[in-house]
Amino acid sequence: MANYELWRSDRQLTEPLADGAALLRGFASKDAANLLDAVREIAAIAPFRHMTTPGGYRMSVAMTNCGERGWVSDANGYRYDAFDPETGRRWPAIPELFLTLATGAAAEAGFPNFRPDACLINRYEPGARLTLHQDRNERDFTQPIVSVSLGLPAVFLFGGARRKDRPRRIRIENGDVAVWGGPARLAFHGIAPLAAGSDSLAGEHRINLTFRKAC
Ligand code: SIN
Ligand code: FE2
Repeated sequence: MANYELWRSDRQLTEPLADGAALLRGFASKDAANLLDAVREIAAIAPFRHMTTPGGYRMSVAMTNCGERGWVSDANGYRYDAFDPETGRRWPAIPELFLTLATGAAAEAGFPNFRPDACLINRYEPGARLTLHQDRNERDFTQPIVSVSLGLPAVFLFGGARRKDRPRRIRIENGDVAVWGGPARLAFHGIAPLAAGSDSLAGEHRINLTFRKAC
């Protein structure tokens, strides 16, 4: 895979990550403040919480969701649930701005028919990390994953189809959007422990929106 950068316009560039995967640099930059406001509104209804892995570990990343379905983890396993287990209520709806952004990014990366029904919202504080994993709790692997980075920068780990494939380490910043689908849909990925810092919009946090078609 050639490691080159392709200029799309004077303020955005698309970086191929693998066959079926691309990093859209700055794709969400102009929406960052509005996206973070919407995250605050969602978190007022469905608060961030540290979920537990099926193996009994507390995740360092705090999570919430919006959409028809939300991703949850507890002693019973990983799954998508229409109801927030903390509140017993449905997750807040995906804001229109989120949908426009996610479908636009997917189309830009070659997936014009993306129909997300789930948005996992991750909040990282310094030291928080997400170990290498595949997103495989969804039903339809023809639909891609769209992942929007806001706030503090991070090191995105992007590997191959096997856990032992050594991941690339890619610095991602506020407004960057990663899309993976097709032959890259089950690529292992993760986030290295977040470095300390302060962001003008998100404070001492990185916020990530991951859009999926879950059902
Ligand atoms: C995820 O894999 O769910 C999110 C990765 C990220 O925070 O960028
Ligand atoms: Fe993931």
